[in-house]
Amino acid sequence: MPKHIAIIMDGNGRWATKRFLPRFAGHAKGVKSVHRVVEACVNRGVQYLTLFAFSSENWKRPEEEVSLLMQLFRKVLVNEIRKMNENNIRLKVIGDLSRFDKDLQALVDMAESQTASNTGLTLTICANYGGRWDMANACRRLMNEGYRPEDMTEELLSSRLAMAYAPDPDMLIRTGGEARISNFLLWQAAYSEFYFTETYWPDFDGDALDEAIASFQKRERRFGKTSEQVKAS
Ligand code: IPE
Ligand code: IPE
Ligand code: MG
Repeated sequence: MPKHIAIIMDGNGRWATKRFLPRFAGHAKGVKSVHRVVEACVNRGVQYLTLFAFSSENWKRPEEEVSLLMQLFRKVLVNEIRKMNENNIRLKVIGDLSRFDKDLQALVDMAESQTASNTGLTLTICANYGGRWDMANACRRLMNEGYRPEDMTEELLSSRLAMAYAPDPDMLIRTGGEARISNFLLWQAAYSEFYFTETYWPDFDGDALDEAIASFQKRERRFGKTSEQVKAS
């Protein structure tokens, strides 16, 4: 079983357009997929689930869509805290939150602190997240702390990334048919197994997750070694 699954939840808009619905209907339906996949991960003993909800580039979308997405995020945070506690889920939100409204920032703080002592699944929502932002931000932090060029190591940089509390994702899933990373976990995905599916995010469910996991389990992760070395170990 992968310890850490990361998902680029893509295809909400196309799911809706195909049904002659406004794009937002796809985002609303996508929240149901989040519920299903979180529940499936809890049941299967996955320890970390990381979801790409809003990228640092998604601000370029029409203002109305951005504002509806913010409202949806707000609603989910308010409604789900109790359920997360019932299911022993620890919530983390990563990304440049400074660009969000103050009340949304406060809500995020509250949701994180109210679930902080839960020991089951760690659910990370990436909001206004970008892999390049994450790395630049880690560098900024280290320079502020007074580190010198000769101190710099991969471990040190990793330790200042937004998701330093989690192991790197074992598997990275992207729904919606595109085969690109769109500035998601650039550093952390160095050795993730990629899984692309045509399924739009609103149609993704526990069975679809099981298919992805089954594909992951058939792969040989070599981390630079030869197949013979891996088989011998
Ligand atoms: C992913 O679905 C959700 C967000 C980026 C917020 P999209 O909204 O990108 O859906 P498509 O790619 O247009 O179908
Ligand atoms: C990536 O999806 C971001 C999220 C799923 C939140 P996009 O739909 O924004 O990606 P591009 O623009 O097609 O690369
Ligand atoms: Mg998209």
